Amino acid sequence: MKRLGVNIDHIATLRNARGEFHPDPYYAANYVKKKGADSVTIHLREDRRHIKDLDAKKICSIKNLLVNLEISTKDEIIKNALRIKPDFVCIVPENRKEITTEGGLNLLKNKKKIKKIVKKFKDKKIRTSLFINPSIKDIIMSKDIETDCIEIHTGKLANLVKSKKKFKKEFTRIKRCTKLAHKLGLVVHAGHGLDYDTVSPIAAIPSIEELNIGHFLIGESIFRGLPFAIEKMRQLIDASCNSPVGANR
Ligand code: PXP
Repeated sequence: MKRLGVNIDHIATLRNARGEFHPDPYYAANYVKKKGADSVTIHLREDRRHIKDLDAKKICSIKNLLVNLEISTKDEIIKNALRIKPDFVCIVPENRKEITTEGGLNLLKNKKKIKKIVKKFKDKKIRTSLFINPSIKDIIMSKDIETDCIEIHTGKLANLVKSKKKFKKEFTRIKRCTKLAHKLGLVVHAGHGLDYDTVSPIAAIPSIEELNIGHFLIGESIFRGLPFAIEKMRQLIDASCNSPVGANR
């Protein structure tokens, strides 16, 4: 069985659009666990555009919930993450202007720094993962860095599938990288841009042990949940109109 990690960042995006409390990512974290997720992923971005420090702290304190905290290599974020003590961390590249994590880490440029960070978390018994592009060189460097896991960026594959372009080459690249990583003893995860159409080929790769999915699930839940929410609001409105309080107004 492959593990499913649900990324709930965009619950916080929606909440922040109002600057108030609803929908609450803390509630969402408990909810996704109840509904079958193996873990919850949150990204404490440097600009705090969705998950805030207090969210991360509260979510990481939920008992029996495995939390995967995505972090950049910035000192302030590392310090925070070590204090918050999630179960897992996934180190990702971060660029202020990007809409989402656009590619994997530049391991060639940042190998020494990332190796040091990985050691800090491993010393605290926190599982480490590196978000990387499907590249053989990056797999070999990840092994040298001594991370526990790698997460292969599936964004390019997902975009090719969604735009009905040829995706076989990218898929073969992901399969090759997965095979090598597994052979080297790295635990392989995959994620980014996955939806109902793109998840199946990725989930069929035997050595991938965990999939992290966010944006599509949150978007899809609007359509799945909207009928219920409208019906309930309708009922409340109708019931109030017929009640004595409503009649007096
Ligand atoms: N994995 C990593 C490392 C990510 O940064 C993200 C996006 O935050 C995801 C998975 C989930 O991607 P998506 O939201 O497109 O499903």
